[in-house]
Order: sequence, then structure tokens, then C-alpha cells
Amino acid sequence: MEYVIEMLNITKEFPGIKANDDVTLKVEKGEIHALLGENGAGKSTLMSVLFGLYQPEKGSIKINGEQVAIANPNVANKHGIGMVHQHFKLVENFTVTENIILGIEPMKLFGRVDISTARKKVQEISEKYGLSVDPDAKIEDISVGMQQRVEILKMLYRDAEILIFDEPTAVLTPQEIHELMNIMKQLIKEGKSIILITHKLKEIKMVANHCTILRRGKYIGTVNVTDTSEKEMAEMMVGREVSFKVDKEKAKTGDTILSIKNLNVKNSRGLMAVKDFSLDFKSGEITCIAGIEGNGQTELIEAITGLRKIEEGKIIFDGEEIERESIRNKTNKGIGHIPEDRHKYGLVLDFTLEENFVLQNYYKEPFSKKGILQFEEIKNYSQHLIEDFDVRSGKGGETQARSMSGGNQQKAIIAREVERSPKLLIAAQPTRGLDVGAIEYIHKRLVAERDKGKAVLLMSFEMEEVLNLSDTIAVMYEGEIAGIVEAEKTNENELGLMMSGSSRKKVD
Ligand SMILES: Nc1ncnc2c1ncn2[C@@H]1O[C@H](COP(=O)(O)OP(=O)(O)OP(=O)(O)O)[C@@H](O)[C@H]1O
Ligand SMILES: [Mg+2]
Repeated sequence: MEYVIEMLNITKEFPGIKANDDVTLKVEKGEIHALLGENGAGKSTLMSVLFGLYQPEKGSIKINGEQVAIANPNVANKHGIGMVHQHFKLVENFTVTENIILGIEPMKLFGRVDISTARKKVQEISEKYGLSVDPDAKIEDISVGMQQRVEILKMLYRDAEILIFDEPTAVLTPQEIHELMNIMKQLIKEGKSIILITHKLKEIKMVANHCTILRRGKYIGTVNVTDTSEKEMAEMMVGREVSFKVDKEKAKTGDTILSIKNLNVKNSRGLMAVKDFSLDFKSGEITCIAGIEGNGQTELIEAITGLRKIEEGKIIFDGEEIERESIRNKTNKGIGHIPEDRHKYGLVLDFTLEENFVLQNYYKEPFSKKGILQFEEIKNYSQHLIEDFDVRSGKGGETQARSMSGGNQQKAIIAREVERSPKLLIAAQPTRGLDVGAIEYIHKRLVAERDKGKAVLLMSFEMEEVLNLSDTIAVMYEGEIAGIVEAEKTNENELGLMMSGSSRKKVD
């Protein structure tokens, strides 16, 4: 068998943890090879070793049968390896072309950058692979899906033959995921090889040839995807049976907790994104705001949580108008928020896990007494969250948030917000980037909050999550409500029609 990549017996340690413990990965030329494993299993670490970002303590790497030493990403590039990271690395106020050529700019005489030649090459590559982007657009003005295309173009511009995608679909909408899958197939046709990290078994089934499974840093096995069911792969990665269904009783709906009346909110470009929006969120119920990305869901949630100013309308929480309240006051009154962008609003990356757990209430009892921090209390509280939510990291509560795996950062935010058990819990894409086992647990906890009589506002792009977890679904289309339906009485088709604006429906 001809392998483009052989990673043999790789061991990579961090303080307190063997992120990779004798791991082997062999990728055939021209295949899509999936890498599957729980949050913190060591997937990103293994790929960072291949990309030259980390040096392993043990093991060797062969490219096309020849042993190589990959000292840094430049060496990886020279060997034809490119990587799209879990969190993109683009310069926001540069254009698409500028980002793509960054570091390897073609030069004219007198040291001036030859943008037009670069621009032409970018255009050629984007046409060849069906990756259309506007070469002159600024990164800050384009969607996440487009930014990802820029990352892919960046690899192709450097003639990469082996492409690493670290959870590329976590940040994409279903439509964009579909497009990305097609792009990947096109890349394979052109002879490239792909390593794909994803938590979505469906995607693995759709495009991958082989799947290598890791668990807690160790190699579990490599399977042929066509011969292996989603369930089998899930069990290999988690080490137990996983249920994909959400178990819940019928909701015992109570009083209105949050009432939104005639709300108007503008987006960052100054256009009205939420238009005359009214909706009630009740205790004991999970109400989902569904819709295709960009139909005002994000702006709505930002307005409620205080991250965005409102133009008009009322937000009434627990009988009180809260439009002008500070974020801290909203938190104190009983609003919890699992934000969409975990890096911008969710965690302070330079703080430890412990510090992040008490961000909103460190100055209160029992964490502070007479102005003195109670470290013992904070430590115990943190330990309890780490165990309940299975937050994995090298040094427990003392781990710096930045060094944690993406999924474990997400679990930490959820743990903090759910544990405070706020009257209203706003969960924006709560399970993005989580492994199937973690999703199962988080769904349980959200249902438990509901059953305690809390109101849960769920925002999700995952159809399955929308249908399985919610009680009521409100579909947003162009800033307005296109329909409100009971989750039990609807299906993917009906929701799809409402989301695309081609049908409207209201209950009652
Ligand atoms: N730079 C680092 N410093 C310290 N520990 C690290 C560092 N990078 C990763 N780790 C630890 O190594 C382990 C594996 O992390 P890694 O990011 O590879 O997981 P992953 O499989 O990609 O998980 P996820 O699905 O959540 O992205 C984790 O426990 C993480 O805390
Ligand atoms: Mg990762």
C-alpha cells in the first residue's frame, strides 16, 4: 500500500497529560481520511505535530515513504502539507488576496508587492476548485464560510498536496457544509489527500474512505468507513454505547419569563436585522430560534444579552424592562448566556479554568468573604464542575483556558452557565464542536434545567438538535418570525420551507 503520510508511534506530552500516546496514522494517497475522537482525545495535537507546530517526544513521520523531520510549518509547507485550523488565522483588515499571499508575496522590482500577479493566480485556483470568493473583499466583511475558503485557497496557493482540515464544518451552516463536501471531493479528484477532523459521523459517512479513532490520547483503530456504522464508530471513540435520542417528558409550561415586544435591531452594517419581533419565552420550556444563518438570530440574542443596542421595542424579563440594564445586572437578575463566539465572549483565555468558572460571581459569597477571595471554595466548586461536565485538560482547575482543546473550552462555558441555573438560559449553538458523548450529556442538562422550571432559549443550526431538544420552534426569516411550531408536530421538511421563506405558519 502506498501511503502519503505515515505517522508512526507518535507521543506528545504536555504538562500533566500525554496528548498523544503511541499514536499511528497512515493516510493513503488520494483519500479522505477522517480523524475521530472525544474532546481532548488529541486530534488537533496530532495534526499540529504533522504541521510542525509541535515536536513529538517519540515517533517518526514518513511522507511518501521517506522519513522526514518537520521542524516548523514552513518545512511542512515545503513537504506539501497545509492546514486549516480549528480557529482561523486570518488578518481581519487585510483583503482576501493579501491574506492568501501573506509571507510569500511575489515581488516586483524595487521591492514592491506584485498584487496583480497574485490576484490572477488566486482567481485561477478558485475557478479550478469551485472556490469562488471576491479576491478584493476584506476578511472582516465576509462570512465564516467564505473565510474558510480563503484558508483553503491559502493552502492551494502554496501547492499543498496533503490538506488537513481541523473541524471545518463546526462553524458552517448546512448549506456551506454541503458546498465544502463538494470542494473536498473535487480536491481528491485532482489528486490531493485530505485528513478531516469532525465530530459529525454523518459527514464521515458522506465523504471519508477510512477513519482513525483516538481515545484519551491512544490509538484505538482504523476502519473502512463503508463497512462501519455511525453507531460502531461512536462506540469505538467513547468506549460505551451512545444514545442519539433526547429523552424528555412533555414540557410543563409555566409563566412567561422573557417577553420581547416589537423589537428592532440593526446589524453591524447598519441594516435592520430584527424587525418588529415579538415572542414570549416561558418557564419549563425549551424554545428554539431556528433559521438559516444571517436571518437575525444572532442580533436578536445579542440584543437580549446586551451585546448590541436596540433601535426600538421592549425586552421584559421577569416583569421588568431590561433594555438598558448592564450585562452584569442582567446576569445578576438571572440570565445565563452560552455565547456563539466562545473566544470573544465566553472565556478569558489567559485565565485559568478555575478563574473562568467564577468570572461573574467571584466577588460574592461563598467565593469572596469581606472582600477576600476564598480560594478553597473556588477550587472545590471548580473541581465539582470539572467532574460533572467531564471537562478534560492537563492540570485540572489550574489549566490555562487557552491550552485546552476546543471542545473542552466549550464544555467549560456550558458548565459555568448551566450550574448557576439562571431563570433564563440562552444557549447559542451550545453543542458546537462537542463530541457525541458530550452532546448527549449537555442535552440532558438542558432538559433538566427546563424541568426545574427555567426558560431555555436555544439557538441552533443543527436540524436534529432543533427537532430533538426543543419544545417550541420559532423560525426566523429576514428578521421576522416565519412560523411557530411545536417540535413534536413538525419535521425537517416543514422547517426547511419556513426557513427559506417559502411558507409561513403559526400555532394557536
Ligand atoms: N499547548 C498546550 N498546552 C497544554 N496542554 C495542551 C496544549 N494543547 C493541547 N493540550 C492538551 O492536550 C489534550 C489534547 O488536546 P487536543 O486539542 O489535541 O484535543 P482534540 O482531540 O483536538 O479535542 P477537541 O475535539 O475538543 O478539539 C487536551 O487535554 C489539552 O488540554
Ligand atoms: Mg481539536
